[in-house]
Amino acid sequence: MSRHAPDAKPLTAPAIRARKGKEPVVCLTAYTAPIAALLDPHADLILVGDSVGMVVHGLPSTVGVTVEMMILHGKAVVRGASRALVVVDLPFGSYEESPQAAYRTASRIMMETGCGAVKLEGGEGMSSTIGFLVERGIPVMGHVGLRPQQVHVDGGFRAKGRGADERARILREAAAADRAGAFAIVVEGVAEDLATEITGAVNVPTIGIGASAACDGQILVTDDMLGLFDWTPKFVRRYGDMRALVETAAAGYAADVRSRAFPGPAETYVLKR
Ligand code: KIV
Repeated sequence: MSRHAPDAKPLTAPAIRARKGKEPVVCLTAYTAPIAALLDPHADLILVGDSVGMVVHGLPSTVGVTVEMMILHGKAVVRGASRALVVVDLPFGSYEESPQAAYRTASRIMMETGCGAVKLEGGEGMSSTIGFLVERGIPVMGHVGLRPQQVHVDGGFRAKGRGADERARILREAAAADRAGAFAIVVEGVAEDLATEITGAVNVPTIGIGASAACDGQILVTDDMLGLFDWTPKFVRRYGDMRALVETAAAGYAADVRSRAFPGPAETYVLKR
């Protein structure tokens, strides 16, 4: 059941920013209109993550995701959501080169999808880009800690902040994203003490994924949360068993088709002549 009045006003980036230190910010990913519509009454922010490449398109990482894919899925999610703030990820290779390149990609994504903000990975190295976009009317969400688009540099997806240098770098990244004008910062794959330090150091909500309850909000990949995959990362809690549901339904349908039990009289047209 929805927590919000049916005519509740759509959430904006400043409204999410104002939640710092207040009620936790509920965030989930979506890639399609029907899932966005189901999440919308419950979530404050719906992220069209570049995780779409792995979750929907079967890619090995987010590196192969294109701007066109983000626009297609972004449009669908915006059609499904009416209250939550829809944020679309800037994909690998579409923004890192310069603030101008980032502006071209981000403005195109906002104009073509109708989303309310974009997300990009990085803090210190991206601070001039974040400032450039915000200055030109594009709300930006930062993303620090484990950065999936860095998979080839990192050699895999591992929790971050293991040594003093790496911890200090992640803290600097979050502070830089905050100073540059990000309205919220995803903190991924760090231990609780670092998440606590980051959350205390920045003026905007931290949105954790595998980053403990110390963050100002939480995000999960919806398909993980629904239990669609056989492997569940440590930081995910399953709130459903979609995998079993789909397997049982597909097996039942296949058996009915093979035995000619489906379609039956109830599913068959009888036309008056
Ligand atoms: O791409 C994505 O879905 C994300 C979230 C997991 C934070 O970046």
